[in-house]
Formats: sequence, C-alpha cells, structure tokens
Amino acid sequence: MRVSKEDLHQLIQTKIERAGLTEEHADIVADVLAFADARGIHSHGAVRVEYYSERIAKGGITNRPDFRFEQTGPTSGIFHGDNGSGHVAAKRAMDEAIRIAGKNGVAVVGVKNMSHSGALAYFVEQAASCDFVALSVCQSDPMVVPFGGAEDYFGTNPIAFAAPTDDGRMLTFDMATTVQAWGKVLHARSRGESIPPTWAVDADGAPTTDPAKVNALLPIAGPKGYGLMMMVDVLSGILLGLPFGKHVSSMYADLSKGRDLGQLHIVINPAFFTDIEAFKANMSEVLDEVTAVAPAPGVDRVYYPGERGQLREKAYAEQGIEIVDDIYEYLISDAIHFDNYDGKNKFAE
Ligand code: NAI
Repeated sequence: MRVSKEDLHQLIQTKIERAGLTEEHADIVADVLAFADARGIHSHGAVRVEYYSERIAKGGITNRPDFRFEQTGPTSGIFHGDNGSGHVAAKRAMDEAIRIAGKNGVAVVGVKNMSHSGALAYFVEQAASCDFVALSVCQSDPMVVPFGGAEDYFGTNPIAFAAPTDDGRMLTFDMATTVQAWGKVLHARSRGESIPPTWAVDADGAPTTDPAKVNALLPIAGPKGYGLMMMVDVLSGILLGLPFGKHVSSMYADLSKGRDLGQLHIVINPAFFTDIEAFKANMSEVLDEVTAVAPAPGVDRVYYPGERGQLREKAYAEQGIEIVDDIYEYLISDAIHFDNYDGKNKFAE
C-alpha cells in the first residue's frame, strides 16, 4: 500500500491520540514516525504504532507528562521526561539545546526518564535545519554482547550526527552500533535463509548463521563498536544518573511501567568557531567531493551519509510511501492494540 506522508501522519496521529496521548503530543509522535517511513527507515516508522499504542493505553507512556526543563549551567541542562512520549521529550529537549547553543555557542542537554524516541536523525536534523551541528545518542534495551562475551549486556545504542550545507542538502549520519538490526534477523528467519556469521551469536556466544539460534547481536567492528556502544551508555545513562547496561528496561517487559531511558543531545553553533557561511560552503564542497570519488567495481556511485534516505523521500513524495498492507489495515481500523507486545521477550517480532 502506498500513502502520502500527510495521510500517514494523520493515520498515526489519530491512533496515538485514541490510545491516550494529547493531540499535541500525538502530532509530534506522528511527525517523527512519518519522517522515518518517508526516509525509508521503516524499522522506526508506522510498524511501531501498535506497540506504542499498547504502552500508552496501559500507562507505560505517561499521557499528560509533567515535562520540566532544568538549565544546570550556561551550556547544560536536563529535560525531565516523566516517562512521557520519547519522541516529544527528545524534540522539546532539542528545542532547548538549540536555544542555548544559539546564545552560548554549545549545548549539552540530557533527556531523563523518557520512553523510546525512534529514529534519531529527526532530532539532529532539527538542529541542522537551524544551521547548527548536532550529535545525539540514546540507550536501548540490552540485546548485544560486549566484545568477546557470550551474554548480552548493552543495547543497540544509536549515534546520530547532522550538519547543514549552503544548498539545502544535509549530512545526516544515523546508525545503531550493531552490525544489523534484529528486524533483519527476523526477516531471514521468516524466509528460511541463513545470515552472515558477523551479525549475531548463539547461546554459547559463538557466531551463528542460523537465524533461529540467535541469542544476541554483535557490535559493529568488534571491539570498536563495543567501545562506541559503551560510550553511548555512559553519555545517555550513567551521566544522567539512569539505569545503565543490562539494567536498562526491556522494550516489552511490562507495558504498564515507564522505561526510564536516557538520551543526550550535543549542539554546536558553528558561528562560535568559524564563519558560518564558510562552514556551510565547505560542507557543500565536502559532499560534492566525496560523491565525485570514483566508485569501486560494482558500485554505482559514492553517496554521502543520509543521501539515500533523502533521495528516497523525494521518490516517495511522488509515488507515496510504501507501507506493509497489515500495518495499513491496522492504522485504518478501529482497534487501538491487540495485546501483542506485553511480556514478549526481547526478540519479539
Ligand atoms: P543504516 O544501517 O540503515 O544506516 C546507517 C548510516 O549509514 C545512515 O546514516 C545511512 O545514511 C548511511 N548509509 C547507508 N548506506 C549508505 C551508502 N551506501 N552510502 C553512504 N551512506 C550510507 O541504519 P541502522 O543502523 O539500521 O539504524 C536505523 C535507525 O534505527 C536509525 O534511525 C537509528 O537512530 C534507529 N535506532 C534507534 C534506536 C532507539 O532506541 N531509539 C536503537 C537503534 C537504532
């Protein structure tokens, strides 16, 4: 099924509002999710609406949270999320970071006690569209082995970065610190296909090519990805006084309880470091130069980070966004949720 971004936004907003969020919060959740689908990040778009609706309906996402921003220094602050929607908390916290960096050059804003915030690209682009450079990291539920380990300890702890150019393009780098998302393992399992041994390990911690035997995911680039995911956990968990590592709450453990997750935004105002117009012109030049690098055999051309998603968004704007039929049927139905997620294990579909 293909739908316009506007229609998808409206369908998601209606469902989330009916689950219990205010119109204002449901609108922001829908904006972040429709953004993800429009960029082709379908793992963090409409596919999540049923899960969020169940958590909202069961009280595990606070319907009318007591959001509070506490500026803790000239360039620092904490956004208290009261386990409200993570999308709304992360967006509002980024608004505060942009305000502080505009005045004081940099901002480091932690979001405390939040729920899942989805695709981080959305929040760093918020800052880049105001001519700032931004980095955002957040915690997610444990399903990854530390390098050399046989048991999971960290989450897929993502890192996102965005910077503006002078021609409307945006450098947007946004990734989980695991080789592959769990969704890709599930996809292989449902098709009866094997997976590369670099993606995941079995119950003994040995690499496996059998998607049915996967017990934990592997970090990107061995010890280097392991170091990055630990860095993310320090910045968005320990630094904010939140549960860390294996103590981070599970996505599906108890949908009536808040998740108490953390996220950290770092925003830099380039005007405090260099000439802003020169910065943006150089950003355009670097994107021109990397994309002009001769491609390797079998590769059409070099893309800059985020470019393929931006091209996808343009194509979807003409053809409509591709949404799985089952998800569309759910979105247009009267159902709020089907009790599908509460109590499922961490590798639920
Ligand atoms: P991915 O592997 O699809 O892309 C990673 C990065 O590589 C992106 O910046 C993309 O633009 C770039 N890229 C991909 N192919 C490229 C190419 N051919 N040339 C140049 N650049 C290329 O992303 P991944 O790791 O699957 O993450 C997907 C989303 O999941 C992200 O939005 C992330 O924030 C989100 N996520 C959210 C979590 C949460 O708890 N909130 C947890 C984990 C991931």
